[in-house]
Amino acid sequence: MRVFLTGGAGYIGSHTLLEILSKAHEVCVYDDYSNSAPVALMRVERLSNRTFQAVTGDVLDQGSLAKALVDFKPDVVVHFAGKKAVGESVAKPLMYYENNVVGTLSLLRGMEAAGCKRIVFSSSATVYGEPQYLPLDEKHPLAATNPYGQTKLMVEHILRDWCAAREGASAVLLRYFNPVGAHDSGQIGEDPNDIPNNLMPFVSQVAVGRRAKLQVFGGDYDTKDGTGVRDYIHVVDLAKAHAAAISYAEAHKGCEAINVGTGQGVSVLDVVKAFEQGSGQPVPYEVVARRPGDVAACYADASKAESLLGWQATRDLADMCETAWKWQSQNPNGYAAP
Ligand code: UD1
Repeated sequence: MRVFLTGGAGYIGSHTLLEILSKAHEVCVYDDYSNSAPVALMRVERLSNRTFQAVTGDVLDQGSLAKALVDFKPDVVVHFAGKKAVGESVAKPLMYYENNVVGTLSLLRGMEAAGCKRIVFSSSATVYGEPQYLPLDEKHPLAATNPYGQTKLMVEHILRDWCAAREGASAVLLRYFNPVGAHDSGQIGEDPNDIPNNLMPFVSQVAVGRRAKLQVFGGDYDTKDGTGVRDYIHVVDLAKAHAAAISYAEAHKGCEAINVGTGQGVSVLDVVKAFEQGSGQPVPYEVVARRPGDVAACYADASKAESLLGWQATRDLADMCETAWKWQSQNPNGYAAP
């Protein structure tokens, strides 16, 4: 198939790109490198031993995006390009609505011009809001607790309506839990701008000596050790879920939301211990106040992915930490020069 990836140079995009190149698909990446680096694409090219097209552009530049789509004529689009920092979304809501919602509308217009009817969307478990029960299945009520979450929810609604209105259209909404880890080569991985918001990149930067210690947000949750519990999913497993979703979209019509997680709840202290083991480095930490907006526990019922996509996670927490460490220790400054 001909696969068009918006945001294909980013953390999840680059791992998915590598995975789908291994499936012999033809690929075009569309990225503005606002939170990624062209060097990630060069590394994917080397690792895959394949070539692919890359167009530099912003999803808000409707002319450039439509031209790239019409030129490439994709069978399916995988849409990663979007802003993803919760705190920033609270401070700059208009930027989030514009990039994530208007950007998706611009993409759908371009897809219509190019005659493309299939999309796989990078959604998030954040669309469930505060869990009313666990594990979270796809029927759980939807709610957003911040502008970032609102944009994911809005785009899900837009894609559902678009799909219903377009004969033969297909949309797969992949609701990611907490993606972590890196490719086994250590050549591509997560490279957050500024101070990481998420746990695993922060832990990696502590282990490599870039930051003095981790702050554990809350030690008094109603969980096994008092710290927050999440469903961490290896980014390579997540990439494989995209490959499966592309095949699914080829064979099916309509809109499906699918959780992508392991179904296992893991605490912050579990992550710290596993990372120390995987890296051989100490990860000093202190327990501080809860982070506003955090929930005690959040993990997936991942059975729909298995039944619909034939996909399930295969990699464990040790593997997530070992590969995250391999990437971090080989690239202490991420993609930036040492
Ligand atoms: C966060 C976002 C979520 C987004 C997801 C993307 C918030 C409130 N939620 O989820 O909307 O979809 O990232 O991956 O930001 N922790 C620490 N110390 C740290 C960082 C995190 O103790 O320095 C803890 C958190 O309290 C939480 C766990 O680690 O218990 C995971 O946090 P994080 O990686 O930020 O992910 P989420 O909060 O689950």
